[in-house]
Amino acid sequence: MKSFKFSFPAKIYFGRDCVKENASLIRNMGKKAFVITSKFIEGYENIGLKDVERLLGELGTDYRVCDNVIENPPVESVAEITRQAGGFDPDYIIAIGGGSAIDSAKAVSCLLGHPGTDPYELFYGNWQSFGNIVNDCAIPVLSIPTTAGTGAEVTGGAVLTRADTDTKLAVSQYLVSEATFLDYRYIEKSPYFLLDTGAMDALAHGIETYINVNSYFLNRAIAEIAFKLFAQFKDALLAKKMKGEDFENMILASTIEGMAFMQTGTALPHGMSYPLSHHKGVNHGLGCAIFLGEYVRCIKNEEMTLPIIHMCGFETVDEFAAYVKEITNRNVNIEVTEQELQAWADEFAALEYRLARHPEPIGRDEIYKIYRDSLKAYIK
Ligand SMILES: [Fe+2]
Repeated sequence: MKSFKFSFPAKIYFGRDCVKENASLIRNMGKKAFVITSKFIEGYENIGLKDVERLLGELGTDYRVCDNVIENPPVESVAEITRQAGGFDPDYIIAIGGGSAIDSAKAVSCLLGHPGTDPYELFYGNWQSFGNIVNDCAIPVLSIPTTAGTGAEVTGGAVLTRADTDTKLAVSQYLVSEATFLDYRYIEKSPYFLLDTGAMDALAHGIETYINVNSYFLNRAIAEIAFKLFAQFKDALLAKKMKGEDFENMILASTIEGMAFMQTGTALPHGMSYPLSHHKGVNHGLGCAIFLGEYVRCIKNEEMTLPIIHMCGFETVDEFAAYVKEITNRNVNIEVTEQELQAWADEFAALEYRLARHPEPIGRDEIYKIYRDSLKAYIK
């Protein structure tokens, strides 16, 4: 059996009203809580924040709310939130939101432990400063996801945007939230655009960890649970008729895929999607999903891919690819050029460490083919 490291530091509390149900645990976190969240789009209420404020009020916990999280959080935004948090001197942080809120909270907690340090130097300069085997967060972070997709509530690290290089880059894999509270009520009012992108992101995490040279029996077994949960809600998602149990399955599948992919990292679709996010503004999960059909097709060994397809509730790879395409088509409207595809394929093949995670021989021509076949409807 090959060597492996299985890492899973976060506790999971799952179920309707799980924040309220675990009030005594939250009370024991300390007397002062700093809440980090995002401003929700107009017409959508931040029910998670409402629940937390009510609970902290009942517990008599002193708290502050910072709702200034920016999507794809820049290092500067994390530094600013850290200044606000530092002035309050909290015992712990509660992150409420999607990946951006949770990643911001983890990075803020880390920065709080290094007062006076330049955040660029801390996050991207001297990696020796990281590597606490347990957690690089200085104070505990509790995560309450209000989207289901990124898995940030259980994965290590934080993806921040660097102003100096204009890129998104992950910070220490040892930044983890201590506990997460999964209540499907926080995603059930989401617009379908968010549900689509979240479900696709989680699906990509599962498939990319499963088809991965670093994969082993444990992360595969975990991913399989989430594939089967996906099979339960996929038709309702496509028909835009999600109900209570579908949301439960979806939020659970997202967290479980997070547990699985943090053991191996992601693979081709995630790497190939960056030009779409960066240059075309395509949302992360949808950007990954655009490549999923052709990615699965490019694997010659069907013994590796067909079990995934079946567990996800499809008979054939074609059926799977058609489903994913329908979800992406209804959300993505971009134009790409042949020159862009060529450039992206060159760039990916030259630099991408994810190629090394691919289980079969693959080179620039195959990468170009995936780009072209996945994006042909968008070529102008
Ligand atoms: Fe992702």
